[in-house]
Amino acid sequence: MMIFKNKTDLMAHVDHLKSEKKTLGFVPTMGALHQGHASLIIKGLENNDYVVVSIFVNPTQFDNKKDLEKYPRTLNSDVALLSEISEDSILIYAPTVEDIYGDNVKSTSFSYDGLEHEMEGKFRAGHFDGVGTIVKRLFEIVRPDTAYFGEKDFQQLMIIKKLVEKHKLPVKVIGCKIHRAKDGLAMSSRNARLKPAYRSAAPFIYKTLTAAKEKFGTKSANKVTDWVTKQFAKNDLLVLEYFIIADTETLKTVKRKSNKKTYRAFIAVYADDIRLIDNIALN
Ligand code: PAJ
Repeated sequence: MMIFKNKTDLMAHVDHLKSEKKTLGFVPTMGALHQGHASLIIKGLENNDYVVVSIFVNPTQFDNKKDLEKYPRTLNSDVALLSEISEDSILIYAPTVEDIYGDNVKSTSFSYDGLEHEMEGKFRAGHFDGVGTIVKRLFEIVRPDTAYFGEKDFQQLMIIKKLVEKHKLPVKVIGCKIHRAKDGLAMSSRNARLKPAYRSAAPFIYKTLTAAKEKFGTKSANKVTDWVTKQFAKNDLLVLEYFIIADTETLKTVKRKSNKKTYRAFIAVYADDIRLIDNIALN
């Protein structure tokens, strides 16, 4: 398993692979890897000679200092999980903050044609500037043919596609389905921090999303939103931050349904001090 700690070494190795006409997939992550990440990497390996997995907890995308401090950092078990997938075809890039940012740990500001003002953009100030900054920088270092992102962070996926389009970055972006635990909870690095009672309560999020999907067949977006809000008001452990039914293309909250459009429901919930997000296609 090749592990690169700095961009100079990784870039030299990428140069070598490119000179041999090898194709390169890329899965950027913040580590604490789980089967959701694995599903992206496996897809990358099916379609490329090599897959670079970056493991970097990016400080500039955290609006909450505590969340950044508490974010799990588990490089040894991450390497073990990746070795089980493939010893030879995965390259790990696990840089330091300095390797990425030097002594200027700041994000650049990006416009994503309004996508950044919805949902996560409203509730996490500066988050998508931080994501754009790190992903653009990683694309420039890794220079992949194809990059894989999860629909788990659907808004992030849309924003990365917009970033690539606006900056004409030479990379193809592929969205991958949400990987769930058996009880329906979307896999997330943050799940490992849930206390048992909260872990047991958390599948309620996906259960409510699937019920909302069913209701959306016959009811208005407003009615479904009210119903979801009421369900969470009755739940002692989970606190709803937002539930929004949005147009899949613009991510704007739907006011009136049209049968020419596709919609998705997005949710953010606090379980204790841990913030969980999920989403589901509605039609
Ligand atoms: P992270 O949360 O580690 O996620 C890395 C990638 O894995 C993202 O594309 C995310 O959508 C995907 N992913 C996470 N859980 C998933 C699941 N249950 N099913 C499918 N895909 C899943 O997202 C980030 O890191 C960062 O913002 C990053 C893009 C690395 C920039 O710092």
